[in-house]
Amino acid sequence: MRSVIDILDLSTAEIDGLIGVANDIIANPDDYADACRRKKLATLFFEPSTRTRLSFEAAMYELGGNVLSVAGGSTSSAAKGESVADTAKTVSCYADIIAMRHPKEGAALVAAQSASVPVINAGDGGHCHPTQTLADLLTIRREKGRFTGLTVGLCGDLKFGRTVHSLLNALSRYGGNRFVLISPEELKVPSYVKADALKKKGIPYTQTTDLESVMPELDILYMTRVQRERFFNEEDYLRLKDSYILTPQKLINAKKDLAIMHPLPRVNEISVAIDGDPRACYFKQVRNGKYMRMALILMLLKEAGKI
Ligand code: NCD
Repeated sequence: MRSVIDILDLSTAEIDGLIGVANDIIANPDDYADACRRKKLATLFFEPSTRTRLSFEAAMYELGGNVLSVAGGSTSSAAKGESVADTAKTVSCYADIIAMRHPKEGAALVAAQSASVPVINAGDGGHCHPTQTLADLLTIRREKGRFTGLTVGLCGDLKFGRTVHSLLNALSRYGGNRFVLISPEELKVPSYVKADALKKKGIPYTQTTDLESVMPELDILYMTRVQRERFFNEEDYLRLKDSYILTPQKLINAKKDLAIMHPLPRVNEISVAIDGDPRACYFKQVRNGKYMRMALILMLLKEAGKI
């Protein structure tokens, strides 16, 4: 049974295919209105979420399917001590496909090993978040027209930010990209991510603490929130939370066609004064996420022989 736990579970050709389907859904939504009729998506979210859960659910409804939802661990049998494996087996009896978010790294993989329906990882702890990356990739393709030859700045909590890890893995498969990793010392990209995504492939990257000095080089600036829920102590979070705040002033030397991205939720990282700037793409990412999730659900249900 094919599941998507990591962005690398999808080949670049499959990602191109998903982008093609997403663009076709955007152009011809009525053609897809019954594609998943009588099929059920279960959303199992054991961590807070607005965009990811609602976009999965909106995606399934727009495909003509139905949704079963566990929105908080405290309302399901996980609170009684049920294992992720048993939950996945159980939910497979009711649903045709599962989207799962969990605070523990590897939880979605464990679920996929026990489920008898496809599992989509909707975020596992500080590890990865492949469907946010699909939203990011569609946004980059629509804004920049390509995945190659880009200088990509990633800024903020690069240690715990799972969307950063997945995006690095995704973009490092295309030629000519260069990464500028902008973070406080304590929140650098973990060495296992750097080793797999960058070093092994000889991809050029630099690390800095200073956003403004690198701004003029960037084609994409991907801002992230400091991940409070992954900190061991509140003092460290309070010290680091406002490390980077993007304001119009800081964009003075930026490229005219910079794409400013953020997976959201935003806390303080981007001033609302930037929202009206044509370079701000973060709400486009939200819209694109739903279409890419529709394309992914269609692909996995077709491969499972369910539609
Ligand atoms: C991200 C996540 O959950 O990792 N949110 C999202 O899905 N768009 C980013 C975050 O919470 O900071």
